[in-house]
Amino acid sequence: NAGNTAAELEYSAYVVGGFVRDLFLSRSTEDVDIVIEGDGIAFAREFAGRMKARVHYYKKFGTAVITFADGSKIDVASARLEYYQFPAALPTVEMSSIKLDLFRRDFTINTLAVCLNPDKFGLLVDFFSAQRDIKEKTIRVLHSLSFVEDPTRIFRAVRFEQRFGFTIGKMTEGLIKNAVKMEFFRRLSGHRVFGELRQILEEDDPVPAIERLAEFNLLVSLHEALKIDKKTVAALHATREVVSWYDLLFVDKPYMKWMVYLMVLMRGMAQQTTEDLCDRLELPPRHREMADAGRREADTFLHWIQRNPGIKNSELYQRLFGFRVEQMLYVMSVTDSDTVKKHISRYILTLQHVAPLIKGKDLNEIGIAPGPLYSEILRKILYARLDEKVRTREDELE
Ligand code: CTP
Repeated sequence: NAGNTAAELEYSAYVVGGFVRDLFLSRSTEDVDIVIEGDGIAFAREFAGRMKARVHYYKKFGTAVITFADGSKIDVASARLEYYQFPAALPTVEMSSIKLDLFRRDFTINTLAVCLNPDKFGLLVDFFSAQRDIKEKTIRVLHSLSFVEDPTRIFRAVRFEQRFGFTIGKMTEGLIKNAVKMEFFRRLSGHRVFGELRQILEEDDPVPAIERLAEFNLLVSLHEALKIDKKTVAALHATREVVSWYDLLFVDKPYMKWMVYLMVLMRGMAQQTTEDLCDRLELPPRHREMADAGRREADTFLHWIQRNPGIKNSELYQRLFGFRVEQMLYVMSVTDSDTVKKHISRYILTLQHVAPLIKGKDLNEIGIAPGPLYSEILRKILYARLDEKVRTREDELE
């Protein structure tokens, strides 16, 4: 047990942060964060050794990650004074190291800690009224410089608020408005902003959080083209429905849910604006490609299919072949036409899995020599199958 290991090394070990918060909220979390009063790396190596787990550590930060055979992980940090730098204005002098560790965190609700040492096992540490704020369903920062230290916390405030159905406290709200007015975001790298935005777009229902970001003028402060009107909100709600529908299919292949929302947010943006926004967010090339060219390709498809509602399956197949799931879900989200939605869902559910029953070797057996003709014939058979002109193997061979 981690507490015994820590005690033998004469350290104190605490479970902290999201894990403890989620216990109070009766939600489950996979991540476990442990803070060691002492040398977290020494603890992690010893504990991993005993548990036959792997350990990676980062000397510079005094942190380690322990990975168990079943794939689960524990993050370990060292609560040691030399790892903290606080603005001089903050009253940090008299704090114990665990208290300091918790003091540098974003919101009160994330400052709960539970001791693991055998002599104090299960002792709940609550220096900053986290339990009260959880009860009152309030997101509060610990001190007024929190967003100066780290402006990405503004996105986190909105994310937690919407995820838990909490409300951002009055003072904290004031600090957010001030931070937006003072353009704290300008000095944030696109990489960090994008990381936060992406986490919001990956939430179960990101729409209320997006509306809240818009309310704080956070989106336009990232890029002036990110204005959210009623039509965008309606499209985002539709996206949520489409994404939920797709998730219920339990398709094994991963896809980028956040990308579908991002494409919907970018709908109608001119190419230059899209490029500017991608620059601001420092999107990596493959994501950029999808948000820009991929979105335009999807718009072209939408335009075409709206004018050709009665198309044959084989035509639909040819048009959608090679499309990414994100592009198809985007089209389903932005169209009002049930016919278009039905076409795409038919492709996703059935058409894309259709293949001829016969193989190359069957063609060989009926005396056709191997060559480029094979794929030509098999393609024709596939199209005939899609259009339900053939049913059995014999039909195909004919
Ligand atoms: N943290 C912070 N400032 C940030 C990011 C994180 O103070 N910009 C702190 C938070 O207090 C949090 C801890 O670091 O408890 C771990 O961060 P993370 O794993 O991102 O937070 P979780 O609360 O576990 O969030 P999630 O449930 O989304 O994973």
